[in-house]
Amino acid sequence: MDAGKFEGLSLVATSARRSDVRDLLHHASREGMISFAGGLPDADLFDLAGINQAIDLIQSRSLRRGLQYGATEGQPNLRAAVAELMRRRGVPTLLDDLLITTGSQQGLDLLARALVNPGDLVAIESPTYLAAVNALELTRPRFLTVPTTSCGMDVDALVSSQARPKLLYVVPTFSNPCGAQMPLEARIKLLQWAADKKVFVIEDDPYGELRFPATPALPSLHQLASHQPGAHGWVAYLSTLSKCMAPGLRIGWMMAPASVLDACIRIKQAMDLHTSSLVQEIAAAYLQSGLMDAAVERMRVTYESRYRVMREALEDAFGDQMTIGEAAGGMFLWARFNDGTHTRALLTEALRDNVMFVPGNAFYAQGNLGASELRLSFVTNATERIREGVQRLKSAHARLHAERSCEAIVQP
Ligand SMILES: Cc1ncc(COP(=O)(O)O)c(C=O)c1O
Repeated sequence: MDAGKFEGLSLVATSARRSDVRDLLHHASREGMISFAGGLPDADLFDLAGINQAIDLIQSRSLRRGLQYGATEGQPNLRAAVAELMRRRGVPTLLDDLLITTGSQQGLDLLARALVNPGDLVAIESPTYLAAVNALELTRPRFLTVPTTSCGMDVDALVSSQARPKLLYVVPTFSNPCGAQMPLEARIKLLQWAADKKVFVIEDDPYGELRFPATPALPSLHQLASHQPGAHGWVAYLSTLSKCMAPGLRIGWMMAPASVLDACIRIKQAMDLHTSSLVQEIAAAYLQSGLMDAAVERMRVTYESRYRVMREALEDAFGDQMTIGEAAGGMFLWARFNDGTHTRALLTEALRDNVMFVPGNAFYAQGNLGASELRLSFVTNATERIREGVQRLKSAHARLHAERSCEAIVQP
């Protein structure tokens, strides 16, 4: 055995995939790089004053509690503050309906472990948030990929497929990677189908609060399920403070039917006992301060103007060579080259110009799709850098195509 390679790795370890996006992020810290790659909120929009105020309050009032072990379900004051937030999102919520998780990513992992056995059929959007697929994959399911349209998961295609998966994972509000929002009728149809076929739905909602100012809020699947005959009890809901407060805190939450929530609490206990008490105290104090609303409003306004600048810059740079998706919130623009550009090759070229994005291929569970597609985050950079980044992308694209046509000339 070679000294660096241990051959006794478990099935879980061997099925754990590397994330392309994570692997790319080390380039993002390079001097001068303009990154449209990661789903990173703009750190300049973190509410430093408000969060500092919350930290000061914890230091003076509840530091001991923050340094102590806590309940697996989460600190009661954070659960109370999240319950209030959910009530304001239109969902009557009690403390016992909530499990605080270490980011919504942990919620995905817990639900996968609680619900999926090897070989179970799990429906996902195609393309989708690949870190969710990575979490699900550890439980060794089979995947049923459902195509997406500009309206998110193609519910009609799913319903007419006659498939009966055990579980469905969906990001109906400003999806990652496409930024799509599923319309109300499709949400209702999806829930009718789930209730009818007895399919458990995981609704992942990290971006719902980041709707552009003029975008009306749509009810979540979770919210609709309580009014939909038979659908109640078939939806788990995940959300997070990562996008509206700060991702480094790693605070998310889960709402699910009691037996599923209880299973997740037992599994979480075995995984990490509980999410950091100190960070939960800080998050609770910040939510209680009421300052997050203004911070989120600033993000909505700023992100929408960046979205418009990015779209316009891409349209000017690429014209008919590119089809650009629409977003009404969230963080991502999804685009496709119509001129045969291979976006992995373009990325290699773009990195030489200090600009990066994620090639579309990274978001498909089947490796050979999305070769001409790409995801661009419009939130991380201010407008001037967005324009500059798109210009760099344009030169990388021109160079790639110039090289290709030279190859075509020399290779008979
Ligand atoms: C769709 C989706 N779900 C979950 C997450 C993970 O969020 P968290 O930071 O709360 O773990 C992300 C992060 O980018 C995401 O895009």
